[in-house]
Amino acid sequence: MSSPFTRTVRGMRDLLPDEAEAMRRLEYIARETARLYGYREVITPLVEHYELLAAKIGEENRRRMYVFKDLGGRRVALRPEFTASIARLVVTKMMYKPKPIRLFCTGSLYRYDEPQFGRYREFWQANYELIGSGRPEADLEILSISRDFMEKTGLEGYYFKVGHVGILRGLLAHEGIGEDEQNAIMQLLDKKEWNKALEIARRSGASGRCIKTLKELFEIREEKPNKATERIMESVDGYEEAIRAAGNLEAILKLAEDSSLELKLSVEAGFARGLEYYTGLIFEIYVPGMDIALGGGGRYDRLIELFGGEPTPATGVALGIDRIALAMSKQGLEFKAEEEGRVLVIPLTEEAVGVAFEVSSILRGAGVLTEVEVMGRRVTRALQDADRRGITHTILIGSRELKEGKITLRDMRTREQKTINLEEAVKYIRENID
Ligand code: HAM
Repeated sequence: MSSPFTRTVRGMRDLLPDEAEAMRRLEYIARETARLYGYREVITPLVEHYELLAAKIGEENRRRMYVFKDLGGRRVALRPEFTASIARLVVTKMMYKPKPIRLFCTGSLYRYDEPQFGRYREFWQANYELIGSGRPEADLEILSISRDFMEKTGLEGYYFKVGHVGILRGLLAHEGIGEDEQNAIMQLLDKKEWNKALEIARRSGASGRCIKTLKELFEIREEKPNKATERIMESVDGYEEAIRAAGNLEAILKLAEDSSLELKLSVEAGFARGLEYYTGLIFEIYVPGMDIALGGGGRYDRLIELFGGEPTPATGVALGIDRIALAMSKQGLEFKAEEEGRVLVIPLTEEAVGVAFEVSSILRGAGVLTEVEVMGRRVTRALQDADRRGITHTILIGSRELKEGKITLRDMRTREQKTINLEEAVKYIRENID
């Protein structure tokens, strides 16, 4: 009888070997991409002070944090994302390192989200942060690294939904709307609740002209960057800060166009993200047929300062490894376990067990995946089991082999068998496994 405690906690998953392998391969791709762009890996703690993680994460995310008191009475939380930890690390340990600082990290995150397709309470991200540059080329680098990662997954049709927090905030600030109300509006826009967002803007004192501008912005969804920025510029006419932000968006998109990255874009002027630290370009990555983001990022120029560091511009992205694995399996792109030789060493007598371990150790030393029969099975059963589990070669060691100082090598695919010395066997296996 299974007890309720032997189930995984709601929202938590066991990853079985194929799933774990897919996850680790994506992590490998992410790490390799980091290396090619000069991002050094850092490892930050799973548990941080609640206040640090909660500072600018946004109301929705804040409510979903795993918060508890540790035995020392500290109010701590499981990290729901990496950016706050990276900003803390930079402020306390790398503030005066030459800029830019390029950091990569990967690992598990925790959010008490409602479990559903692609939404878990424990999930993994590959996270890249570029610290020290406020220039458009830094934003482009983050888009470029995201693109390279996505290319390596083989996913088809992925595109970047792009917006700019500075345009919306600039507009609202011009109307004298304070940061709390701005944040509430952003949260609603993140959930596509346009009317509720307009309602709060109205209640916070936005003028008729501002509401009209917001409505126009919400309508802008363009694949052609020039067209998008042209329409945005027309809408925000007279709003100085918003114009500056739109100019920044234009510069980034122009650079993207000049590079040969061929990013597929959807520029959406009413797009906002739940995280509150963003100050500039924001983006999310989607594939057709899945309405959840595979990754997201953007510019956050004031977080490092908020944590006590020098004013330092920064930008970054997190790719959702679980969702990318899901999208890959939807597109039939599962990682196939590599065809490789697998050897099973079967001792036929008690006396041969020690030698079986010695032989297996030599094979592993030669780079061959080697298992030892540890179930005490008789040879026929052991060979049947080997067939079932895709073993390519078995090595049988009985009293005759022990006496002659040889082993019997059986090729499970051809059923050929010969008694030879170990060096010959290693050579044969290595030649026949690739
Ligand atoms: P985020 O948009 O909150 O951004 O998360 C990034 C990605 O993590 C999402 O696009 C999604 O793929 C994945 N993700 C988020 N929540 C879940 C969940 N409950 N289940 C499965 N996957 C999930 C950030 O975390 C920012 N720190 C990104 C960033 C880095 N911005 C600047 N630097």
